[in-house]
Amino acid sequence: MNRRELLSAAALTCVGVNGGVAQAQTSTGLDALARTSGRRFGFAVSSSYADKEPVKSLLRQHAGVVTAENAMKWRSIENLFGVPDYTQADRVAAIAVDLSAQLRGHTLAWHQSTPARLTWATTEVFVREQTSHLQALVSRYRGHIHTWDVLNEVIDADQPTGMRESVLSKLWGADRYPALFELARVADPYAKLAYNDFGLEQDEPWCERRRTALLRMLERWVKRGTPIDVMGLQAHLNMSRKFSADKLLRFFDELRAMGLTLQITELDVSEAQLQGDVAARDAAIAALYRDFTQACLSHPAVEMIVMWNVTDDNSWINRWLQAQRRVDGQPQRPTLFDASGQAKPAFHAVAACMGNAATKFDMKETRHV
Ligand code: G3I
Repeated sequence: MNRRELLSAAALTCVGVNGGVAQAQTSTGLDALARTSGRRFGFAVSSSYADKEPVKSLLRQHAGVVTAENAMKWRSIENLFGVPDYTQADRVAAIAVDLSAQLRGHTLAWHQSTPARLTWATTEVFVREQTSHLQALVSRYRGHIHTWDVLNEVIDADQPTGMRESVLSKLWGADRYPALFELARVADPYAKLAYNDFGLEQDEPWCERRRTALLRMLERWVKRGTPIDVMGLQAHLNMSRKFSADKLLRFFDELRAMGLTLQITELDVSEAQLQGDVAARDAAIAALYRDFTQACLSHPAVEMIVMWNVTDDNSWINRWLQAQRRVDGQPQRPTLFDASGQAKPAFHAVAACMGNAATKFDMKETRHV
């Protein structure tokens, strides 16, 4: 199908949500729509739900990118005694092959996925273990990973340094983070290398401070020649926060000026405080999806959008985020599909924007070999 055929099949317009979101036909896959502007679309998955219906069919229809939700994290790979088991990670890699989807590796270094056994390790032991874990994991999937999230969530705007204090900063060393990218580049020269973080997308003073801290860190890294290709914006959006497309796009311009492409890596919408019945909540959530997606797709450096989970019931927000339970006890509706796999207004909002994206992704493909 060419672009014109895809668009007429979907009969799309990116319209307001109040009067009803444009009903993109769900038969046109989101990845197919994303490709019309040179981008890709996908989902974070775990084999525990990706192998079952309705997620299995939804992935077949809509996924052009697959991220391992947990399976490639260090804590998921090794057992209590430090012995690696790649079964789950291999399963997610196989799902990507089966779908002919790009595979995102997530994540090589993250304070939350550092094995508990290393919490009290010496610096020497920690550096040795983190290095060999990274080398083994990256080499295992060499040539199969589109992008590796090399490092996850290390900024903290409330610290004078702008950097989070954690087991990683303490034992690996915040000034040595660029070495993680250097190791990953050597282990798989085919993969793009990303830094990934949250709390950067909305129009709140604390997000602004995080954007500033992030830009300072990336400037330092780029200046010293760190092999970083991609900024991963998690985009865990929240209905209780404001959104400004103008501010987001100015931020994207600054990232692009550093030579980075942009990937939306973990998109979803929390709505713990949202009032109203399901229809009203869905309409409001769809409006934020529309505003955010429209802004992202108007920027030439944005190359992919990845949802964090596929249906509402397998969203991490409903599975694990106890602190964000709604007061009415109802589950949240953070993703594009309900538990039965039905497309919600958020789906139609995203599909409409995707089909209408006038700005093409225009950064050159980064290949290093
Ligand atoms: O697999 C075990 C299961 O055997 C056990 O019975 C159960 C009991 O608690 O735990 C299960 O493991 C859980 C795992 O998810 C698999 O579902 C862990 O407790 C739980 O902490 C883990 O949470 C994940 C979290 O990262 C921490 O790794 C979420 O699923 C995952 O969605 C979330 O993803 C993060 C991204 O990596 C980084 N950005 C934020 C995002 C959301 O927090």
